[in-house]
Parts: sequence; structure tokens; C-alpha cells
Amino acid sequence: MSLPWKHAIVVGASSGIGEALARRLAKDGCRVAMVARRKDSLDRLADELNSAAGSTIAFTAAHDVANRGEVPFLFQELAKELGGLDAIFYAAGVMPTVAVDEYNTEKDAMMMEVNTIGAMAWLNQAAVRFERTKRGTIVGISSIAGDRGRRGSPAYGTSKAALNAFLESLRNRLARFGVKVVTIKPGFIDTEMTQGLPGLFWLISADRAAELIIAAARAGRNVAYIPGRWRIVGMVVRAIPSFLFRRLSI
Ligand SMILES: NC(=O)c1ccc[n+]([C@@H]2O[C@H](COP(=O)([O-])OP(=O)(O)OC[C@H]3O[C@@H](n4cnc5c(N)ncnc54)[C@H](OP(=O)(O)O)[C@@H]3O)[C@@H](O)[C@H]2O)c1
Repeated sequence: MSLPWKHAIVVGASSGIGEALARRLAKDGCRVAMVARRKDSLDRLADELNSAAGSTIAFTAAHDVANRGEVPFLFQELAKELGGLDAIFYAAGVMPTVAVDEYNTEKDAMMMEVNTIGAMAWLNQAAVRFERTKRGTIVGISSIAGDRGRRGSPAYGTSKAALNAFLESLRNRLARFGVKVVTIKPGFIDTEMTQGLPGLFWLISADRAAELIIAAARAGRNVAYIPGRWRIVGMVVRAIPSFLFRRLSI
């Protein structure tokens, strides 16, 4: 089935879920602008996608999302290069290892910068444009980890909970202009982020995750757990009373 978008930006496209999203979008005929710090990975991917398409459909930009001052100009440049913009996918994210007795403000701030404030910087630009054009799709890759405050990584969960609230607010602002805002909550996906982590289950490939994310965005879902069975986990986890939840080693 052809995509409803012809021009898309993917932030965090140099590996994992973002790379898989860019591949699928390009394969299905969408012009795609790919953003991340690792320019060599982005350029390799663009070469591959352009030669498969037989024309230039993939564009790259090296950018650290912590440099949010660069975003307004870069956003406009990429939209110009693409020849329009119908969708944006924010997939950039970090989840450094955090020991259970570690309280490291610099590490916490870095997670907030990349996972949340970077998303605000990019998606605010999209919101302004889509509100004006009265169409468009905004997709934020959050996590099931934002559903509850766990022992594991306080700031990672916080960054995703904040992203969830931000995306919901954008949705409530932009719905009346016909703009879709989709919150994606993946479970465990086989990417660089999860390499070597213990206790993973129901692991799916980044490509399968991208397929499900695109399906959820096409359907205009508000919130989608990826894959869907994680919705039940989310419901259970949210329902556990605090005094019991704090006894769990998650
Ligand atoms: N894998 C999972 O099980 C899982 C589960 C739930 C949610 N998620 C979320 O899914 C998203 C994608 O993660 P992934 O699993 O695909 O991990 P990944 O393979 O490590 O991809 C992370 C992407 O974010 C980019 N990124 C990181 N820091 C950046 C920065 N400062 N500036 C610009 N780009 C930056 C990376 O590019 P560069 O390093 O080249 O900059 C890379 O393209 C993240 O938001 C993650 O929290 C993942």
C-alpha cells in the first residue's frame, strides 16, 4: 500500500528504529531527510537508498540534538531540500547504563536533552509548519518506560514520561488543524540501545518495529504500543499500587 506521505524527516536515523523507519519510508517512495550525529552512517544509508531508487530521494544532515539553536534553520533547509514536508519522526534517544545507587545529574541532563528537549525543538518546528498548512503527521518515539517511575533509570523514564505529556499536548493543540500526533511506546527492540542488556523478552527487530510504527501512524493512532501486546503490560504496570511497585526490582 502506498504511503500517505511523500516527504519526511527522521531524526535519529543513523541506527536502530530511526534507520529502519528511513529505509521503509524510502522503499515506499517517500523522500526522506535523515538526521543524527554519525554523518558517515547517514551518508552510507543515503547512498544505498538513492541507488535503490535510481534518483536522489535521501538527504542527510549531521546534527547533535543537544544543539537546539541549530534546529529552526536546519528544519527549514531540510524541508526545502525535500520539496515539502508531510511527516516527521523523532527517534533520537539515549539510555546510558545507570547503576541502581547512581545519582548522576550530568547523565540525567543528557537524557533529558536528547530524549525530550531535542524532541521539543524539532517537533515545535513541525507544529508551526503543520498548523499553517493544516495537515501533517508528527510521530514521537517514546517508550513503555515512561509509564511508571522505576528503580532502573529514573531520568530515562522521566524523559519519556515528559515526552508523552508533550506529545499529548501537541495532539490536543493540533487536532483541530487536521494534524496527527502519534505517541509510540515500544517494548524491547533489537538495536544498539539494547545490545547486551539482560532480561530482554518479546524482542523484535528494528525493521518489524518500523513496520508497526508506520502502520500506527498511517492509521492516525493517538498512542501505540509496539508490538501491541505491550499495551497489556502498560495497563498492568500502571495499575500496581505504589507500595507494591517499589518492591519490584524493575
Ligand atoms: N530499543 C528499544 O528496546 C527501545 C525501547 C523503547 C524505546 N526506544 C526508543 O527508540 C528510540 C530509538 O532508539 P533505538 O533503540 O533505535 O537506539 P539506537 O540504535 O541507539 O538509535 C538511537 C538514535 O538516536 C540518535 N542520537 C542519539 N543521541 C543523539 C544526539 N545527541 N543527537 C542526534 N541524534 C542522536 C543516534 O544517532 P547518532 O549516535 O549518530 O547521533 C541514533 O540514530 C529512542 O528514543 C529509544 O529511547 C527503544
